[in-house]
Amino acid sequence: MNPRILLARAIFPEVLDRLAQHFDVTSNQCDESWTQLEFIERLQGHQGVFTTGGERIDAALLAACPDLKICANMAVGYNNFDLEAMTTAGVLATNAPEVLTETTADFGFALLMATARRMAQAEHFLRAGLWTRWRYDLFAGAEVHGSTLGILGMGRIGQGIAKRGALGFGMQVIYHNRSRLDVATELDCRARYVSKQQLLNTADHLVLVLPYSAASHHAIGAPELAQMKPSATLVNIARGGIVDDAALAAALRNKTIAAAGLDVFEGEPAVHPDLLLLPNVVLTPHIASATLPTRLAMANLAADNLVGFLTQGKALTPLNAEVMVKQQVLC
Ligand code: GLV
Repeated sequence: MNPRILLARAIFPEVLDRLAQHFDVTSNQCDESWTQLEFIERLQGHQGVFTTGGERIDAALLAACPDLKICANMAVGYNNFDLEAMTTAGVLATNAPEVLTETTADFGFALLMATARRMAQAEHFLRAGLWTRWRYDLFAGAEVHGSTLGILGMGRIGQGIAKRGALGFGMQVIYHNRSRLDVATELDCRARYVSKQQLLNTADHLVLVLPYSAASHHAIGAPELAQMKPSATLVNIARGGIVDDAALAAALRNKTIAAAGLDVFEGEPAVHPDLLLLPNVVLTPHIASATLPTRLAMANLAADNLVGFLTQGKALTPLNAEVMVKQQVLC
């Protein structure tokens, strides 16, 4: 009998077809939203689940789904997984790194540009029929080329953004990270390590690319915003919850900073109502990795992990490899 897998969301039909060659698949091509209880009910009797970053896998779910062996996330971020509980329960967690790095870095830069150069605001103005004549300061924004780009969280995506800034736009790149990069990587990215305080004080444009965890919750709140330049822009393509959205809305309203570009939100898809009222913020619905080739590559990687682990005991991108090793010893 083939292993059974559940797809928590609609996915590319070709990936569904591929999975159906190896598994008994319970799909969700209608893309229904399930409560946590419905999700647990549907997971019964399934050995694998294809998740997309929004489905919570925690100790309660694991206790209620004893057949589950692997959760394959079609996302690089995995803050929807309680990794410790998964490891304790012997359930493998996998994510989808690398395949989205350059696409996400492109988007981070696009959002920086749109924010600094006030593109969304200007477009709304034009569409509203308000453009009647040229004016010397019409939607005059912040300079991007030659300015100082700050990056908080310097993993693969942060490094991609650093290179775009340094090589494409002649920016001085500074970064802060839990651990400093080795010298060769710093040179490759043309990036200089600074303290978080220096980063906040110095950056003209600050891009957040760090993973969400208890430690990074509200890493940017009112005290941090107060340390930034009044002319600065802030871009969050990491995760909601890293920025205190209420504090950010207040900072944008009071001109503590000039503008923000946000692709992720606390409690998304809900957006803090104050942000929706502000002109100096560009808002996008968590689409940083959204090109069709990249999303397909992410889905295929999640599928490879399910096939590899459930048919041969090996996943390509495990997050708790110790589970994989244990299963291989048991086989
Ligand atoms: C998207 O947010 C991802 O983590 O892949």
